[in-house]
Amino acid sequence: RAAPPVITIDGPTASGKGTIAHRVAQALGWSVLDSGALYRLTALAVQQNGTNPDDEMAVARVAQELDVAFQGEQVLLEGRDVAALIRQEQVGNLASRVAAYGPVRQALLERQRAFRMAPGLVADGRDMGTVVFPDAPLKIFLVADVRARAERRSKQLKEKGFSANLADLLESMRARDERDRTRANAPLVAAADARTVDSSSLTIDETVRVVLDLWSSLGFQPQE
Ligand code: CDP
Ligand code: CDP
Repeated sequence: RAAPPVITIDGPTASGKGTIAHRVAQALGWSVLDSGALYRLTALAVQQNGTNPDDEMAVARVAQELDVAFQGEQVLLEGRDVAALIRQEQVGNLASRVAAYGPVRQALLERQRAFRMAPGLVADGRDMGTVVFPDAPLKIFLVADVRARAERRSKQLKEKGFSANLADLLESMRARDERDRTRANAPLVAAADARTVDSSSLTIDETVRVVLDLWSSLGFQPQE
């Protein structure tokens, strides 16, 4: 019996991966995996435990032992909803630092693969198409102009009640993308068989349509 299908959505920060992943999953009646949340949760746990972020093995143990649950909009870390907290750019930054560690990525690998279930999964992150689900039948590499991404993220953070300075955000996002692209372990790169979609001038609805059309064009039959 074939494994349930996966649509992967990788790309730089704030390109719309999470939003598009949720909408596509909703349209297909599939599950979602927000893999970035696992790295953000590791970063938050490291911060809260007082773990030394430079100690690779200590951080990997935190990742291995992470007590998390995803319930609708809620992201529970040891039973406490931290969905808003992990969205801060400072947590994203620490996430990007610890995500460069091979043992941390290894610790989170099986946890991510466990999200694959019938009838299908939409998974977003940096290495969904290259490392975690290399056999995914549809891989999207979602990009957008860095200015458009910074403006979207700034608006999104303000809506969550966080302060966000556009210039600082732009600087931080650039640095984070650069670190993610140049690291040795699972760098941010389009899989050889990924379709690149530029959403700079697309609405969310238009982007969702592009992905759903690509999926339909593959002519996949639903599993019995
Ligand atoms: O997951 P990722 O960091 O790639 O991005 P996101 O959190 O899904 O999207 C960042 C923000 O951009 C959200 O507030 C989206 O609503 C917004 N967005 C947009 O305005 N237009 C798009 N085509 C896609 C996302
Ligand atoms: O929402 P945004 O795109 O800003 O970030 P995210 O997807 O929540 O990921 C936060 C950080 O986790 C990224 O900057 C990456 O360094 C790391 N990450 C990763 O290495 N691999 C993934 N599959 C997902 C995230």
